[in-house]
Amino acid sequence: MTISNAKISAVEMYVPEKILTNKELEKMVDTTNEWILERTGIRTRHICEKGQAASDLAAEAVIKLCKKRGISPKDIELIIVPTVTPDMLFPSTACLLQEKIGADNAWGFDLSGACSGFLFALSVAEKYIQTGIYRRVVVVGSEIMSSIADYTNRETCVLFGDAAGAVLLEPAEEGEKGIIDILLRCDGSGGKYLYMPGGGSLHPATHETVDKKMHYIHQQGRRVFKFAVTEMANISREIMKKNNITSDQVKLYVPHQANMRIIKACQANLGFTDDQIIINIQKYGNTTSATIPLCLYEASQEGRIKKGDYLVLASFGAGFTWGSILLQWEIENS
Ligand code: UT7
Repeated sequence: MTISNAKISAVEMYVPEKILTNKELEKMVDTTNEWILERTGIRTRHICEKGQAASDLAAEAVIKLCKKRGISPKDIELIIVPTVTPDMLFPSTACLLQEKIGADNAWGFDLSGACSGFLFALSVAEKYIQTGIYRRVVVVGSEIMSSIADYTNRETCVLFGDAAGAVLLEPAEEGEKGIIDILLRCDGSGGKYLYMPGGGSLHPATHETVDKKMHYIHQQGRRVFKFAVTEMANISREIMKKNNITSDQVKLYVPHQANMRIIKACQANLGFTDDQIIINIQKYGNTTSATIPLCLYEASQEGRIKKGDYLVLASFGAGFTWGSILLQWEIENS
């Protein structure tokens, strides 16, 4: 069996046009622009029109991804869609997407890892490439968080946005490293702090579950916050130490974007300068499994990363789930 590293060979994103500002939220719930900015760092988030689903955002991102790499959707062999907001419980968003983009030669599935879903999915995709089973795997984090946010609850609705971010994974070529190491974790005892109770097999949808708002995000923000600042920093430090990479060798730290204060605390804890970290939460809010590919896309577009640079990706989310990936960026700047 050939073992070759996997690399990210293209990255793309898509956000719906409609923007929801803090000022608009002030008219919807008892909040202020100042509170949201100070406590979260978020200014705006993109929100879908009614009728748009996760597979629609994913389709936009993946079509752009194929164009960018100069391939047809028919060249894709596997599609993995990390998401907490699938179009429906089944069939999977990956199947609906496969049909929408005409990826006739691909199979696919959804993956439930919440905000760590993108890293979890990358780890699965990597194995298919490493073992030589496939040569083109797409991972597309696609979320319509507005479909499960309660716009009467100020504690959650201000935080989230809708987006899709996609990467193509291919075998690394001679001299390229691509994905170097992956650390992933979960601790189910944290499940009670961030969850959506309704609509699953435990509480199938009924009038009662809807009346009790069980089909919305429920979160104990402070509990999640504490966990996030500790574990996202710890796992990032662990992956660097394990691979003998010091923080000054890292070109870009790419943390999950859930709260500016969490990001800044991790930055300070790990000793990264402002040039070494990407933050775009102000524009998009928390887009769950799409935050990391959105950051990769923008860093690449802005020329902040070039071929050969070391990147550390890090996430945390519902579950609790968390993880970190060390990789070498292998895309030439166009
Ligand atoms: O992707 C992973 C998912 N989640 C996260 O990473 C979330 C992690 N947690 C957080 O980001 C923060 O905990 C939040 C942004 C959710 C909340 O910030 P906080 O500083 O932890 O606020 P808090 O929950 O401790 O609430 C402080 C006060 C409360 O009022 P009282 O009880 O002190 O009178 C809240 O009711 O702020 C109030 N509050 C708000 N006020 C205005 C909560 N949300 C709002 C709001 N506008 N939108």
